[in-house]
Amino acid sequence: MKTIKNTILAMALVCFALSGCSKTTVETEAPATLKSALADKFYIGTALNQAQFTGVDTASIRLIKEQFSAIVPENCMKSEVIHPEEGRFDFTQADRFVDFGEANNLFITGHCLIWHSQTPQWLFVDEQGKDVSREVLIERMKNHITAVVSRYKGKIKGWDVVNEAILDDGSYRESKFYTIIGEEFIPLAFQFAHEADPDVELYYNDYSMANEGKRNGVVAMVKSIQEKGIRIDGIGMQGHIGMQYPAIEEFEKSLTAFAALGVNVMITELDLTVLPSPQGDVGADVAQTVKYQQEMNPYPDGLPKEVEAAWTARFNEFFKLFFKYQDKITRVTLWGVSDGDSWKNDWPVFGRTDYALLFDRNYQPKPIVNLIISESELTGF
Ligand code: XIL
Repeated sequence: MKTIKNTILAMALVCFALSGCSKTTVETEAPATLKSALADKFYIGTALNQAQFTGVDTASIRLIKEQFSAIVPENCMKSEVIHPEEGRFDFTQADRFVDFGEANNLFITGHCLIWHSQTPQWLFVDEQGKDVSREVLIERMKNHITAVVSRYKGKIKGWDVVNEAILDDGSYRESKFYTIIGEEFIPLAFQFAHEADPDVELYYNDYSMANEGKRNGVVAMVKSIQEKGIRIDGIGMQGHIGMQYPAIEEFEKSLTAFAALGVNVMITELDLTVLPSPQGDVGADVAQTVKYQQEMNPYPDGLPKEVEAAWTARFNEFFKLFFKYQDKITRVTLWGVSDGDSWKNDWPVFGRTDYALLFDRNYQPKPIVNLIISESELTGF
């Protein structure tokens, strides 16, 4: 597949008063989009919120259709939304998300089946509020996965089956899934998803993947799934990156270590925060808190030129890395369309103004968009 350039022939009638009227054909090129420029490399995706897949946010929808080839739901397929009570599923939002993807011919990924967060508490407890047995939790996990995956069989092409189960030091997160079931919850989840849709791709997804400890832990965990003969197609590296973290060399080491397992690599939740990371104790002094809030939210009215240039350069380095490994990477997905919608405005500090995505608050492409497009042309196979 090679990039298809959109060439538009604009017919212009140019009238010259003195020499009479003559028809002139002027050839202009429609601006390339991310989707068209990257078509021969990897899917370029974005996470969608409710206002987007229900048709309310028309400015975003225009960009999604024009620029992106893949989508993932930001929240609407998480188990607290889709399975709020035992035996009661609510697929209202999820169905609309999938309909939007199908109507616009987008590659649809599901996010996510098993995660410690945004999961309803009933899943883990009995009527007395005590932890359920291993057998009961496995059964509930199976019911959940089977119902959700089979509903979107053939429509959703890949699932984040397990999200964020390994800690930075490589050990297992002490989630309820882990403490009640043990390590086995991960291969079981993959097995249940495979049984529900034998054709769908299955992924493990996590953040801070550049950390050596996490890299090794994820490699060992994925190997153990493979050794059991259970299907796993890909590893999603959430790309919640900052101006300092991670070191790009460490990110590259993880990318190659994951690819060496024989699975696809995906950059799944890409955004680059320009804001400082909160550290240390802010104390209880009100004046201090105001000062702290100003320090933590330094660009409420726009980015200074030099900060914007540094942000662009850093994002560009990452895209160069993605181009270098374009044969291993199948998808690069941004965690949102434009800056105003990014979760980074509210996390890890609520109410800040961040600039983490490719399109600004007015839905305009930032300089990085053209850089990605022009560099993609230099980095074919
Ligand atoms: C975030 C959403 O963007 C927020 O809207 C929500 O409040 C919390 O979750 N890792 C993940 C994503 O896998 O599901 C998270 O999404 C961001 C971190």
